[in-house]
Amino acid sequence: MSRMKIAMVVGSSRTGSLNEKLARAVAALAPDTLEFERVRIDDIPHYNGELEGARPAEVTRFTDQIRAAQGVFFVTPEYNRSIPGMVKDAIDWGSKPMGQNVWAGKTAGMMGTSPGGIGTAVGQQHLRQVLSVLGVTVVPAEAYIAFSQPDLISDSGEVSADATRTFIRAYVERFADLTRRLAS
Ligand code: FNR
Repeated sequence: MSRMKIAMVVGSSRTGSLNEKLARAVAALAPDTLEFERVRIDDIPHYNGELEGARPAEVTRFTDQIRAAQGVFFVTPEYNRSIPGMVKDAIDWGSKPMGQNVWAGKTAGMMGTSPGGIGTAVGQQHLRQVLSVLGVTVVPAEAYIAFSQPDLISDSGEVSADATRTFIRAYVERFADLTRRLAS
């Protein structure tokens, strides 16, 4: 079976991002049935319907990448108990114009990390809610990771704690299984 293409969306573009480290860990621990493609969102403008006649090239690049993928994997921080605006704008562009929603029929996995104890749990509830109106099937499991020690995940995505590594691997395998089943 050919590998399933998965768009990886990361909700933080700052240097040293904890979620960037987690995204690298996800890709490193994923089964080889998945082929991740990083999808850039930090250069996408705020949604503006006036631009629909001539969409910015960054937006078209993004929506083409999502359209070509079988599934999407979000790794994002939580901002004030919700998702970062950058993530929401990208989702909104992909949902329009009417009848051309690029999200419909995709599967989604989601993970996030923060130094806080309930790291990204509430933000993920918001993301799940947004995706549910766009026809996305989200993995029926939660995966939020407290970045409890500075070396939990290295810059290149190596996870130092066995339990965290096992947890990430199990979640990504579940996402792969869901995506494979929906594709068949
Ligand atoms: C945060 N942070 C945060 N953390 C959390 O667990 N719940 C929250 O609601 C928020 N809210 C929030 C708002 C804003 C505007 C910022 C900048 C930060 C802290 C956040 O989790 C922390 O800065 C992470 O390190 C951000 O992720 P990256 O950039 O390291 O991937």
